[in-house]
Amino acid sequence: MSMAASPRDNQIGVIGGGRMGGAIAQIFAGAGFDVVVVEPAAALRADMPARVADICRARGMDESAVARVTTVEKAGGELASPAMIVEAAPEKLELKREIFETLGNLCGPETILATNTSVIPVAAIGARAKHPERIVGTHFWNPPYAVRLVEVVQSARTSAATVEKTMALMARAGQTPVHVKRDVPGFIGNRLQHALKREAIALVQSGVCDAETVDFVIRNSFGARLGIMGTLEQSDLVGLNLTLDIHKVILSDLDCSKEPQKLLVDLVAAGKTGAGAGEGFRKWNEAERDELRGRLDKALLAAKKG
Ligand SMILES: NC(=O)c1ccc[n+]([C@@H]2O[C@H](COP(=O)([O-])OP(=O)(O)OC[C@H]3O[C@@H](n4cnc5c(N)ncnc54)[C@H](O)[C@@H]3O)[C@@H](O)[C@H]2O)c1
Repeated sequence: MSMAASPRDNQIGVIGGGRMGGAIAQIFAGAGFDVVVVEPAAALRADMPARVADICRARGMDESAVARVTTVEKAGGELASPAMIVEAAPEKLELKREIFETLGNLCGPETILATNTSVIPVAAIGARAKHPERIVGTHFWNPPYAVRLVEVVQSARTSAATVEKTMALMARAGQTPVHVKRDVPGFIGNRLQHALKREAIALVQSGVCDAETVDFVIRNSFGARLGIMGTLEQSDLVGLNLTLDIHKVILSDLDCSKEPQKLLVDLVAAGKTGAGAGEGFRKWNEAERDELRGRLDKALLAAKKG
């Protein structure tokens, strides 16, 4: 049941114009929405047009989206009634709570308030905001113009109408929305990703193999299949009896740490925070880092077209 678009239906707000917020702005502007980005850092506001233009070029689009993105330092009257506001501020609960409280007072009840949090429960972020039924999670992946999935997360307080409208807006923006029916930390994708990461760290920590070998095995075994066939489809294909027999042997031996593991804690404490620092689980130089990033972006963009 689509109605004639009013100006509000065509307007999106984004809170935080950093890595994700800038890209989310480009996605909506590229699909014809007018976008207002709230970003406190002057330098990031100043280079927003250039960043949006870069993404347009990477996507093979003309640069008309640049003119549809405006930036402001603080949320004000221009954000009173957009169709939706996507919050992409730093991953800190209290900051996000404050933002939602402010937006709850600023925006009419028809405006959907969405958070791009990676793992924080949506209900906790919206705890102090007015009209909680219009608060929803919209978990984009990085970079969101190449990895098109958006997890639309319904908390116990989110209305079904909010979920439906959010899914429709995401589809209109060219993204691929999926409905996450319960507000569990990490939603679907990050729960799966970090369950794998926990076991990967455990294998290195206990001396079964080094970090390069973990990643080599992933890329060259089940990882090669994952883009084509999901893990549950794979079980169905080979027969669930096999999965059952394997689980009887292996589950009791898999890592089930309830806290971050020692190897990870020690690396971070030693300043070995990853590619940007020159060392993390492995050693890195700048050329290797840029080469991997470039190759990944190209492959993801190509995969989307295929
Ligand atoms: N980077 C990723 O891969 C990724 C993927 C999915 C989701 N996320 C989530 O998206 C969110 C943003 O992540 P990011 O990587 O873009 O971070 P970022 O640090 O690049 O961007 C955050 C921006 O928010 C701005 N900001 C700070 N306080 C603000 C306020 N009060 N109001 C408005 N803006 C404010 C900062 O100046 C900064 O530019 C986080 O919740 C993160 O967990 C990140």
